[in-house]
Amino acid sequence: QVNEAEAVVFNIPSYACQRRTALDNHNTVLTDALSLLAENAELSDEDGRGVAFRRAAAVLKALPEPVTGMTQLRGLPCLGGHSLRVIKDILEDGASGEVELTKESERFKALKVLTGIFGVGVKTAERWIREQIHSLQQLQDSGQTLNRAQQAGLEHYDDLNQPVTKAEADAIGEIVREAVMSVLPGAQITVIGGFRRGKLTGHDVDFLVTHPEEGREVGLMPKVVSWLESQGFLLYQKTTRNSYLESKDGPARPASNMDRFERCFSIFKLPEEETRGTKQTETLTENTPEDTCSLAANWQVKGGEQMKPAGHKAWRAVRVDLVVSPISQFAFALLGWTGSKLFERELRRWAGHEKAMSLSSHALYDNKQSRYLRATSEEEIFAHLGLDYIPPSERNA
Ligand code: CTP
Ligand code: MN
Ligand code: MN
Ligand code: MN
Repeated sequence: QVNEAEAVVFNIPSYACQRRTALDNHNTVLTDALSLLAENAELSDEDGRGVAFRRAAAVLKALPEPVTGMTQLRGLPCLGGHSLRVIKDILEDGASGEVELTKESERFKALKVLTGIFGVGVKTAERWIREQIHSLQQLQDSGQTLNRAQQAGLEHYDDLNQPVTKAEADAIGEIVREAVMSVLPGAQITVIGGFRRGKLTGHDVDFLVTHPEEGREVGLMPKVVSWLESQGFLLYQKTTRNSYLESKDGPARPASNMDRFERCFSIFKLPEEETRGTKQTETLTENTPEDTCSLAANWQVKGGEQMKPAGHKAWRAVRVDLVVSPISQFAFALLGWTGSKLFERELRRWAGHEKAMSLSSHALYDNKQSRYLRATSEEEIFAHLGLDYIPPSERNA
């Protein structure tokens, strides 16, 4: 039995935006289990339960050391009865029966595979499952009509489910920079999302584009997309125009959490040479004739100069999100798109519940003063909200 006087008592504030969450999670076994239950709830249209598990997992991510006993959890926020039961099972038995059953359930597995297709949401996946479609093969055989996004998602399924590395994100960044600079010199490009938080891999790469002169950014996205398309860098794209000014629900309180910037959801065709560096190429050209001959069995010689492995494509598909914001809203867009998703949700909840303010990726509105609060940096927004500044690398809640 743990002596209660000796047990570490953690002091963790209740909103994720009040605390620092670095990437060095000391409780991955517990947080993986809770995240899986959160995912299952979200895939089952039980968003409330999903958020509860996400909040519980986030509290454990913020702890400075591994949890070894239940007494350490006393007084911690956001740990409901269900989450505590899961944690207790894992600490005492090494596993949670509920988590193991969920993981193995046909429904969960099918939902994961199907929603793992870009363009497929929970509603579509559920409909397919009702029609006995549980796998990609069954989907292909079913003759279901797929929209353009889903066709691209299915075609590039393996690539898109392989994590994007930092090197690939950097290579994409260079391409995006070239595209933006060639259509609007002076524009600024910032990596957002998980890579801005210091993650080493991601499911996509996210960029925010603005221009220091208000208004110069208008109409930018179609030009960037045209440039990328003309260079053969896009496998798929869907551009949504800015709908902020015509929205009727008031700037700081959009009808949904979706913001209204001009944006582009895309799938990039990233040539392998963009991330390979020079090493591999050098090795190849420095091969002795014998080596080259043995390699040639598997390699096609093209035009006598360039060699490509047969049946091996020399590029890979990567999901890329582009967002354009006017400079006047840049700080809000930056804060709103850096994530994590839970951190964002908690910021908005804090603003609404604790400060009577409405925060979006466009603006911050003070309901008591009935006015917008301006900001040109993330630091200013945290200050308006009465929060200590948390840098991106510590928003990994
Ligand atoms: N976001 C958003 N609206 C969307 C999609 C995403 O505002 N329709 C925001 C999310 O709230 C998040 C950021 O964009 O803050 C990045 O989202 P996403 O790319 O999905 O997640 P990451 O944190 O980048 O994680 P990953 O590495 O999995 O991409
Ligand atoms: Mn730590
Ligand atoms: Mn991302
Ligand atoms: Mn994204």
